[in-house]
Amino acid sequence: MRIYYAENYEKMSRKAADILAAQVTLKPDSVLGLATGATPVGLYRALAVDHREHGLSFSKCRTVNLDEYCGLAADHPQSYAYFMQKMLFSNIDICPEHTYLPDGKNIDADAECQRYDALLASLGGIDLQLLGIGHNGHIGFNEPAACFSTGTHRIRLTESTIHANARFFVREEEMPEYAYTMGIRPIVQARRILLVVSGAEKAEILEQALFGPVTPHVPASILQLVPDLIVCGEAGALSDICSKHSALVTNLP
Ligand code: GLP
Repeated sequence: MRIYYAENYEKMSRKAADILAAQVTLKPDSVLGLATGATPVGLYRALAVDHREHGLSFSKCRTVNLDEYCGLAADHPQSYAYFMQKMLFSNIDICPEHTYLPDGKNIDADAECQRYDALLASLGGIDLQLLGIGHNGHIGFNEPAACFSTGTHRIRLTESTIHANARFFVREEEMPEYAYTMGIRPIVQARRILLVVSGAEKAEILEQALFGPVTPHVPASILQLVPDLIVCGEAGALSDICSKHSALVTNLP
């Protein structure tokens, strides 16, 4: 595990974008696992700059997103499909047919989950998986549970996740209670994982996830078993790790 400390959000985003750009340079036909939430927005902006001003091309890449809200169509402004389109896909040269998300409008959960798992298998797995972390340690929408999930599934979101993500909706009641999420297994089977974390309110859960017991009650703790894990955090999010495990942290210039 490599942990990069950035003094602010911009520097964290730039470092994370450099790692993602390096992956695409190394393997232009990479399968990229992508994430949503506020944290990766700066990284997506930086990648758009790399594409526009420095010719970084995603034309051979394929992307798979972690999750989608049940009930929201791709053109709903709070859907993750819409988020990805706006924040990244429309700003780079990726083929729209090479971008995949769960279909939030499919009410046949079994069929949708099987479809997404078959898709992941047909892509041959993920070369680089980008992750954020939820306040309760979730990755994708894999919430704390009695055991680690395997395949794609429909999940009832916890109250804390609904509360945390309701900020993106006009009213909390509009926030869907269910989502489709990739399971933990394909996430941690990715050949490389890049975790981006920002905000002091994530400091405690991040330290627990990376240095506490590996337990499905903190889903991100499984990342301790991943051979190629890169963590990019800004000062607030890394504060607990810096005070307890400073020798393991690399400061960015
Ligand atoms: C959502 C997403 C996660 C993301 C998390 C944290 O729940 N499903 O993939 O990591 O939010 O989001 P934020 O970066 O906004 O804190």
